Amino acid sequence: MKKILIPAIAAFVILLSSCGSDETTLSKAYEGHFLIGTALNRMHLSGTDPQAMPFIAQQFNSVTAENAMKWERIHPEPGRYEFGLADSIVDFAEKNGMQVIGHVLVWHSQTPQWVFQDSLGNQLTRDALLERLRDHIHTVVGHYKGRVLGWDVVNEAVEEDGSLRKTKWLEIIGEDYMEKAFIYAHEADPDAELYYNDYNNEERAKRAGVIPIVKNLQSKGIRIDGVGIQGHWHLDSPDMRVIDESIGEYAALGMKVMITELEINVLPTPAWLYGAEISRTMEYRDSLNPFVAGLPDSVQTQLTNRYAELFRILLKHDDAVTRVTFWGLHDGYSWKNNWPIPGRTNYPLLFDRSYGLKPAYHAVIKEAEKIK
Ligand code: G3I
Repeated sequence: MKKILIPAIAAFVILLSSCGSDETTLSKAYEGHFLIGTALNRMHLSGTDPQAMPFIAQQFNSVTAENAMKWERIHPEPGRYEFGLADSIVDFAEKNGMQVIGHVLVWHSQTPQWVFQDSLGNQLTRDALLERLRDHIHTVVGHYKGRVLGWDVVNEAVEEDGSLRKTKWLEIIGEDYMEKAFIYAHEADPDAELYYNDYNNEERAKRAGVIPIVKNLQSKGIRIDGVGIQGHWHLDSPDMRVIDESIGEYAALGMKVMITELEINVLPTPAWLYGAEISRTMEYRDSLNPFVAGLPDSVQTQLTNRYAELFRILLKHDDAVTRVTFWGLHDGYSWKNNWPIPGRTNYPLLFDRSYGLKPAYHAVIKEAEKIK
C-alpha cells in the first residue's frame, strides 16, 4: 500500500506546485470549442517521470499514441500483435475520461518490409496485400472497437505537389488502396470516426491533392469524417492566412478538421526541412542550436504571439475544428529536439522542461477566455 501511496502523493504535490495557482487548464478553457490532446509515449507510461501522467490527465482531454499503434510496433511480425503499450494508453484515457485517437493504420513509414512480401521475400500480389491490410485493420481497429473516437486511417499519402506519394501501397494495390483502408476500418468499428491525416496539407498545392481524395470517398459513399492537418509548424511558416483558408476549404466539404500533431519550431531550420519528411535530415552544427542555455525573451515573445494568433484562427473555425493535439507533452519530450537535426534544444510546446507554464500557454488560454 505504502509503495503505491508515496509516489502518488509525490506526483500530486509536484503537480500542484507546477500548476501554481492557475485553476484553469487547456482542456477546461477550450471546453465547448474543441478537444485538446497530446501525444503519449512509453516514457510517460514507464513511471520514470512521475509528473507526466497526472499532468496529462489534468491538462488534456484526448490522447494519441505517439508510436505505440504504428504497424512496426503493434504488428511487428506476421501474425504477432503487441497490444501491451497501446492498451495501457487506452486504459489510462478511459480511467481519466479522455478520448483516444488511433494513429495510424496505413502509412508508408514505420511499416516493416515483410508487410509487402511473401515468406520467400517476393513482392505480394494486389489481392494478397489487400488481404493483409484487411487483416491488420480488422485486428487492430477490432481490438479497440468502441474505445477509440477516431482513426488516422491513411497518413501522408500525398506529395508536396499534390500528386500521390509513390509508396508500396500505391505500387502494389493501386489508387484504391485508400478506399479499401477506409472501408475495412468502417467494417471493423462502424461507430469510429475516420480521418485522412497529413503534414503541409494546409498548403495550396498539397491541399489540391487531398481534396480529391476526400471527394472520391464521398462520391462512393465511403465513410470519412475528417481531415487532420498535422501542424508541424515554424515561427515564420506557414502564413496564418493559409491555415485559415485550408480549414475553411476542408470544412466546406463537410469535413471535421483537426490539428493533429501541433508544435512550433523555434530553431534555425532550412525551409526544405519544413514539414515532417522524416527520411530527410541534416548534420548537427552548433550554429543551428543557438538556445541551449535558454530561450531568449525575444523568441519567447514570437512564439507566444504565434500561438495566440493560431488559436484565434482555430477558435474562429470552432464549428469545424474538433480537436487540437500537441505533438509532445513538454519541450523536453518533443521529437523536434532530434529532427531534422539531432541533438538540439528546442522549445516548440506550451510547457517547459520542468512542466512550467510558458507565456504561450497563458496566451492560448487567454484567447479562449476572450470569447467566453
Ligand atoms: O524506442 C526506441 C529506443 O528503444 C531506441 O533506443 C531509440 C534509438 O534510436 O529509438 C527509439 O525509437 C524511436 C521512437 O521515435 C521513440 O523515441 C525511433 O527510433 C524513432 O524513429 C521514432 O520517431 C517517431 C517518428 O514519428 C517515426 O515513427 C517519433 O517519436 C514520432 O514523434 C514521429 O511522429 C510522426 C507521426 O507519427 C506522423 N507525422 C510525423 C510525425 C513526426 O515525424
